[in-house]
Amino acid sequence: MFDNIYKNKKILITGNTGFKGSWLSAWLLKLEAKIIGISKDIPTNPSIFETLNLEQEIKFYREDIRNLDKIIEIISLEKPDFLFHLAAQPIVSTSYINPIETISSNVMGTANILEALRISNHKCTAIIITSDKAYDNIEQVWGYKETDHLGGKDIYSGSKGGAELIIKSYFHSFFKNSNSNIKLAIGRAGNVIGGGDWAKDRIVVDCMIAWSKGEIVEIRSPQATRPWQHVLEPLSGYLLLGQKLYQNDILHGEAFNFGPRAEQNHTVKELLTELSQYWHFNSVEEAYKITNNIYFHEAGLLKLNCDKALFDLKWLPTLEYKKTIKFTSEWYYDFYKRSISMFDKTIQQISEYENIAKEKGLKWTE
Ligand SMILES: NC(=O)c1ccc[n+]([C@@H]2O[C@H](COP(=O)([O-])OP(=O)(O)OC[C@H]3O[C@@H](n4cnc5c(N)ncnc54)[C@H](O)[C@@H]3O)[C@@H](O)[C@H]2O)c1
Repeated sequence: MFDNIYKNKKILITGNTGFKGSWLSAWLLKLEAKIIGISKDIPTNPSIFETLNLEQEIKFYREDIRNLDKIIEIISLEKPDFLFHLAAQPIVSTSYINPIETISSNVMGTANILEALRISNHKCTAIIITSDKAYDNIEQVWGYKETDHLGGKDIYSGSKGGAELIIKSYFHSFFKNSNSNIKLAIGRAGNVIGGGDWAKDRIVVDCMIAWSKGEIVEIRSPQATRPWQHVLEPLSGYLLLGQKLYQNDILHGEAFNFGPRAEQNHTVKELLTELSQYWHFNSVEEAYKITNNIYFHEAGLLKLNCDKALFDLKWLPTLEYKKTIKFTSEWYYDFYKRSISMFDKTIQQISEYENIAKEKGLKWTE
């Protein structure tokens, strides 16, 4: 996998206690990497980080990325071979409540990571994660390309667009220079689902919590359509980007979209019907009820054009829709209803994901 590039390497993951950071840690542990994490807290309760007992497997610094001195100290001391920067305030609704915290973590936090890399200047390949929301959403129906305008009307989106501007200026001011040992690229992806997410305002999470308590979920917008992408999809993109950037200078400073295929688009009703199959209900009426069925205009649904990732990295999504839902729903069912090791379950899903990708002939599996 990934040309064995991560084996025995020191990998720093910021935001390691979060949803994506925990899955990335588990995958890199499977690839026999040594993991160092920086996060300011454990963002949810329950949490995937604690459920997988990841603190036993990694070196964890509980630090805030807004503390520049501390971040410089850790990066200069640890000198990681790779850095995946995921730490952020990632919830749009929270960005309305705590705008300054969102901006300081997402923009200044990213600047601090880049500054610490500049000062340390050891050989390091850094993948900086922003978001599809970094794009200025002009409600076009076709996918956004990496060269499209950045921006964002809400604070979260603006903070991710702001982070992108800072990354670009650090790249041109410092890292592009031949004296720099830092290689950097940007990964942009949209919302993802998968076992172990307990963030608020997410339909899958709300369902899993309700069903674990035997409650029926109420849905108000059954026809709302979303692309349902598994968390392992962008992670395979970030890992592949890290590998290619490590092996080849040509990707230095480049940004890549990692999005789902159009067939992953399904309505909320279809999603709940599919998810409920793994909870052994007698009928869907036990799982959800539709309390309102108002058609509404889907403002601002943003699609990514991933041709660049296909062309330069040979990256494609791996899972079909049904498998995405199976992975997700089974993970939570096992967490709530069976006493098994969720670390083993997670590794088993990563292995299955790798095997499906291998059968499809995806290059990163070599
Ligand atoms: N989950 C998604 O659907 C999604 C979609 C697009 C982009 N992203 C991006 O991916 C990244 C990870 O998202 P996630 O869903 O895993 O988020 P999460 O909320 O599960 O985890 C966030 C992590 O960042 C850490 N963090 C937040 N502020 C920090 C600070 N100031 N200092 C140190 N650590 C801090 C938290 O402790 C936690 O470890 C974020 O950059 C997010 O914007 C996520």
